[in-house]
Amino acid sequence: MAKKNQKIYVCSECGYESATWLGKCPSCGEWNTLKEFEEAGTSSGKVIKELKPSHLSEIRSSDEKRISTHMEEMDRVMGGGIVRGSLILIGGDPGIGKSTLMLQTCRNLCNDGLRLLYISGEESLHQIRMRADRMGKFNDNLSLLCETDLDLIEKCISNEKPDIVVIDSIQTMYKDSISSAPGSQTQVREATAILMRIAKGLGVTVFVIGHVTKEGMVAGPRVLEHMVDTVLYLEGDRHSSYRILRGVKNRFGSTDEIGVFEMMENGLSEVKNPSEFMLDGKPEGSSGSIVSCALEGTRPILVEVQSLVTRTSFGMPRRTAAGFDMNRMNLIMAVIEKRLGLRMSEYDAYLNIAGGMRLSEPAIDLGVVLSTVSSFYDKALPEKLMCFGEVGLSGEVRTVRSAGQRIGEAAKMGFQKCICPEGCLRSLRHTEGIEIIGVRTIREAVEKIREAG
Ligand code: TYD
Ligand code: MG
Repeated sequence: MAKKNQKIYVCSECGYESATWLGKCPSCGEWNTLKEFEEAGTSSGKVIKELKPSHLSEIRSSDEKRISTHMEEMDRVMGGGIVRGSLILIGGDPGIGKSTLMLQTCRNLCNDGLRLLYISGEESLHQIRMRADRMGKFNDNLSLLCETDLDLIEKCISNEKPDIVVIDSIQTMYKDSISSAPGSQTQVREATAILMRIAKGLGVTVFVIGHVTKEGMVAGPRVLEHMVDTVLYLEGDRHSSYRILRGVKNRFGSTDEIGVFEMMENGLSEVKNPSEFMLDGKPEGSSGSIVSCALEGTRPILVEVQSLVTRTSFGMPRRTAAGFDMNRMNLIMAVIEKRLGLRMSEYDAYLNIAGGMRLSEPAIDLGVVLSTVSSFYDKALPEKLMCFGEVGLSGEVRTVRSAGQRIGEAAKMGFQKCICPEGCLRSLRHTEGIEIIGVRTIREAVEKIREAG
């Protein structure tokens, strides 16, 4: 006998499930995010079979070849290529270029002889054709379908048996038997579960596109992260042309890799040297600007850290950070005040990572300190100077990983001096063409720059 359908409440931010409605999610702490959701009844007349667990050695390891997309930037983020039968979520703001990226991937894959099915619920066939025309040559291995009904889609996939399916976007898909509107929490979860079943059952790789909106109006892909195998986010400033594809979760590889692209007339093109791109347009001889190096996965990327410090006209100093964590910025301002004796509490401070990149690595802390100090005194830092290091609460400059790689990247880009944590000097081999200055504290770093003139 089937039990009556039960109501559960699911948090739209983190996917936490609760039997009762709660104002605040106990898991992620967000308010008013729990939405009602009907759970299908479970059968109680279940036959219990005996299970036998296996040893690792008994399991056949599939060293199956991954499918290359012929885009190095994309392959790297996915851990070396596409794994057959996996479900991959591509998230991002609307209009950032998700459909473009997927259509381009389709083009490369269909030219390799793989059979693809691109299902769009957002654009007409005519619109897709216009976009494809700009991108270059496609062959007949790619089929297109405009449909949003999941029952029909499931049928079509099992008839056509393509190698790869693209769903654009998950928010437009719906299952008839569920009463809520497409894009709602319930529909999005159900749609993903169906696609997961298709991927695992038929061995079809499924790419799912999902919009993330800041307002959380539409069920964001956040709730889906734990259901799918791989989560990639396409980010970037809509007003600048570069885009970053970031691996957030990957069951088949490491997650902190990024791929860098530039949006062009004919689609996205790969950026092989992101540092050059990020430093493009760096002002010369202006105060409050320094180059630092962030490590994204295995890739060092040079970025320009910009600060602007002005006397505050209110009682409370204003602080804003673009591309950097606000709390960390506040902490660094406090460290500057206490350890360098600058009265930051009387000054507004604005921080910007130029190029629109979002960084979470503490290695650029030292860059934040030096650019802030430079703007405070309105004195430009020496040209061709680069710095990195984590800043601790007592003003110490702490060691970060892969110092050699960061310095190597700076030397390659023509930097002549590098201020880095003294602790990093031990692990460094001889580096040519760049003078390395080890520091223990931020005070020492500022003094070394003063000495250098
Ligand atoms: P799109 O892939 O439709 O975004 P999403 O699917 O994430 O909503 O990309 C839309 C933007 O990309 C649009 O503003 C136009 C721009 N674009 C180009 O600049 N060049 C191109 O070749 C294409 C196809 C799009
Ligand atoms: Mg789109």
